[in-house]
Amino acid sequence: MILSPSMLSSDFANMESELKALEKAGLDWVHLDVMDGMFVPNITFGPPIIKAMRKKSKLFFDCHLMINDPGRYIQDFADAGADLICVHAEACDHLERVCAQIAETGAKPAVALNPHTPPETIRYLLPQLYMVLIMSVNPGFGGQKFIPFCKDKVRDLKTMINDAGADTLIQIDGGVTLDNARELTEAGVDVLVSGSAFFKHPPYGERHKAFQAACK
Ligand code: DX5
Ligand code: ZN
Repeated sequence: MILSPSMLSSDFANMESELKALEKAGLDWVHLDVMDGMFVPNITFGPPIIKAMRKKSKLFFDCHLMINDPGRYIQDFADAGADLICVHAEACDHLERVCAQIAETGAKPAVALNPHTPPETIRYLLPQLYMVLIMSVNPGFGGQKFIPFCKDKVRDLKTMINDAGADTLIQIDGGVTLDNARELTEAGVDVLVSGSAFFKHPPYGERHKAFQAACK
């Protein structure tokens, strides 16, 4: 299980020390939520901030783009230092083209699905996807409640990935806690995103261990 803490719940005024604390706590990934105020009703940060963070951290930058028509900015995010670029299926008219665009930059391509979007949408893209993100809340804000049917989606997607003979990772994002972490990894999740249930419970090293233990 990979834990990818969402910086959305971190202290934005002290991102450098937050990133350093994650590294010290043994994390490998960090989840960066980019919001444009159009695709989702909230605005966060974009490539310049990610570029600044890149200078302070060696963590794997897992960039979740909640923006309309993300194909316009793929190169900018890659240049800023994104290791993985995840775009929403609902935000792209030509999803295959955008995924190919991401791969061309050298970043890992990933697709996010809103809670209501069936995994069937990305069946034929699986061989070219490093990861699929299943949103388990409606995107836009941290601290929301997990939508239960999303666990069934994880199972369906896992079956689809196995049938395709692909090695695509499954990530889940939204309302992940110590209480549901285990059932999610059992259902097939490889990467858990956690915002509020992680950052609100320092020290991070202990919290990281608690998530690992919960999934055993
Ligand atoms: C929501 C974001 C999430 C958010 C998760 O739109 O994509 O990454 O930070 O926060 P929690 O874990 O608090 O639900
Ligand atoms: Zn996210």
